[in-house]
Amino acid sequence: MHNPQLNAGGELQHLLTLEGMPAEIIERILDTAVPFVSIAERDVKKVPLLRGKTVFNLFFENSTRTRTTFEIAAKRLSADVINLNVGVSSTSKGETLLDTIDNLVAMNADMFVVRHGESGAPHLIAQHLSARQRAHIHVINAGDGRHAHPTQGLLDLFTIRHYKREFRNLAVAIVGDVLHSRVARSLIHGLTTMGAAEVRAIGPQTLLPTAVEKMGVRVFHDMKAGLAGCDVIVMLRLQTERMKGSLLPSAGEFFKHYGLTTDKLAMAKPDAIVMHPGPMNRGVEIDSAVADGTHSVILPQVTFGIAVRMAVMSILAGG
Ligand code: CP
Repeated sequence: MHNPQLNAGGELQHLLTLEGMPAEIIERILDTAVPFVSIAERDVKKVPLLRGKTVFNLFFENSTRTRTTFEIAAKRLSADVINLNVGVSSTSKGETLLDTIDNLVAMNADMFVVRHGESGAPHLIAQHLSARQRAHIHVINAGDGRHAHPTQGLLDLFTIRHYKREFRNLAVAIVGDVLHSRVARSLIHGLTTMGAAEVRAIGPQTLLPTAVEKMGVRVFHDMKAGLAGCDVIVMLRLQTERMKGSLLPSAGEFFKHYGLTTDKLAMAKPDAIVMHPGPMNRGVEIDSAVADGTHSVILPQVTFGIAVRMAVMSILAGG
């Protein structure tokens, strides 16, 4: 089947989703990111791989980590970075997304990093560019609706591999609002492609997608049972902005059953790591004692995000 993010030669043209992404490409991105981690320790934190390229950050939805780490990553690769301020751009005067893109292409854009509330917006831009034979321009999905967040999935895979060395034999539990989570979807695709022994989804029926098992996931509604013997725990935020109607009795009730406390963490393996993509709601999905505790790798995830995004951009640019 044709993969719209690969070019005719099977090379990465855009990064839109981890669904259907060949394991070799994921592995290549993770391997490429390894030396980029140490660039942060240098006096001059720059390499010239994207010198002369112009990267546009187009964030139509709020972001702290993704937008900032993409900007740092592009600057460390020596690109020129433009952060379009969507709130004061002409999209607020009725200009369509694709007209905005055409205008930025007219300014010789080389790469678009796109976050959008509508699932499929980055695909639409990539298709639009291909149709106009602009094969040298690259689109990176920085999170679209509840569909995909591939660079978050990749940085999560990088973090897991960093601490656990390899994916096979690992049991990974993803806990909470899987239904609305593009992070969960991307991570599930990534983990199953990379051969993780078991991926578990833990949450109430109302917050798990129907037929999530078809993605290769084992479902648990009891958190302690789901965490038993896990190597990795990934906590998710309740994405109330995407919920239609009330899916939960209350945040307090959710925390009682699905909040990660030291008591529930004790069910996992003694060397289990705790991850969270952020933004984190303390006392809703995770207790501060765990978020700030010795098992937590939540802040290293953010640091690794820079290296992984550098890897993605340098590979797309032919590095
Ligand atoms: N993980 C993540 O996407 O965080 P931001 O919304 O802050 O970018």
